[in-house]
Amino acid sequence: MDEITLVNFKQKETFVESDKIKEIITRSVAYLNAGFPVHYRGPAGTGKTTLAMHLAHIFSQPTVIIFGSDEVRSTDFVGGQFGYRKRVVIDNYIHSVIKTDETAEQKWVDGRLVTACKDGYIVIYDEFSRSTPETNNILLSVLEEKVLELPINRDGETYIKVHPDFKAIFTSNPEKYAGVYNTQEALLDRMITINLEHWDRDTEVKITVSQTGLGLEDARKVVDIVRNYRKKVNGNISIRAAIMIGKVVNVLNIPILPENEMFIRVCEDILGGRGGADSADMSAVIQSRQQAAPASVEQIVRNVVPRMS
Ligand SMILES: Nc1ncnc2c1ncn2[C@@H]1O[C@H](COP(=O)(O)OP(=O)(O)OP(=O)(O)O)[C@@H](O)[C@H]1O
Ligand SMILES: [Mg+2]
Repeated sequence: MDEITLVNFKQKETFVESDKIKEIITRSVAYLNAGFPVHYRGPAGTGKTTLAMHLAHIFSQPTVIIFGSDEVRSTDFVGGQFGYRKRVVIDNYIHSVIKTDETAEQKWVDGRLVTACKDGYIVIYDEFSRSTPETNNILLSVLEEKVLELPINRDGETYIKVHPDFKAIFTSNPEKYAGVYNTQEALLDRMITINLEHWDRDTEVKITVSQTGLGLEDARKVVDIVRNYRKKVNGNISIRAAIMIGKVVNVLNIPILPENEMFIRVCEDILGGRGGADSADMSAVIQSRQQAAPASVEQIVRNVVPRMS
C-alpha cells in the first residue's frame, strides 16, 4: 500500500483573486468553519481544483488528496491488511545457522480517511463522483454523525470520532461523460455545493496574464477569441485554451495579429478540437470540426483582433 502523502499548500504566486473569486472563497471559508463540507461543481477548466487547493492553503492544515475513480476502494479510505513481514534471525555464534521465521505477518495500515479524521486534516476529494457509490458510502457518517466506522479486523477501536479540525472539500464535473456514476443524493445532501461556471472576462484576462506572462492587451485579445469561440460552438471551451494559446505564442515569439498566419494556425489547432460533445458521437464531431472549425476560428480571430494598419 502507498504511503499517505500529506501536502501543505503554499500560496501560489499565480493564483488570481478577482472580486468574484474572493466572494466565493469568503463563503467557502464560512461553510467549512461552520462544519460543512464544500463542493465545487462545474465543467472542465472552471477552476475547481485550483480553488480547493487554495482553500487548503488558507486554512494551512495538512491536506490529504484523493482522486476519485472506479479504482478507489474502501481500503484506500479506511485501510486494510497489507504486506507481510518475514523475520530473519541470524545467529551470531554459529555462523552456519540462519533461522528464518516463515510465518507471514500481516500488518494493518490505516487508510487516508482514518488518518485525516483522527488527526484533523483537510481532505480534498477531487472528482469524487467518479468513484463508486459503495466506496463513497463510508463518508456519510463521517460528514453527518462525525464518526468513522472501522472494519472489525482492525485492532483496537471499531470506530473513531472525527477530529473537530477535519474538513472536506469536494469537486465534481456534472457533465455526463465525465462522471461514471450519478452523484449520490445522500452525499450531496450533506455538503454545500457551489456551482462554478467559466469566469467573467476580467477574471479570465487576469488568469491568462498570471499563467502565461502575456501583457494585458494581448491577454485581452486571446481571452476574447476564446470567449467568442465558446459562444459560437456553445461548448465547454475553458480558460485552459487561452492559457495554451498564450504559452505557445510566447514560445514562438509571434505577434497576436490576424495577418500572422502562424497565430491563426495556432488558434485553430488549440480551439478546433475542443467542444462539449458526447463521447459516443465524438468521432463524427471531430470529423465535422476538422472541416468546419478552421474557417470559423480564423473568422473569430479576424473579428476580435484588429489589423495593424
Ligand atoms: N484563480 C485562478 N488563478 C490562477 N489560475 C487559475 C485560477 N483558476 C483556474 N486557473 C487555471 O485554469 C486552469 C484550470 O483550472 P483547474 O484545473 O482548477 O480547473 P478544474 O475545474 O479543476 O478542471 P477539471 O474539471 O478539468 O479538473 C488551470 O491551468 C489553473 O491553473
Ligand atoms: Mg480539476
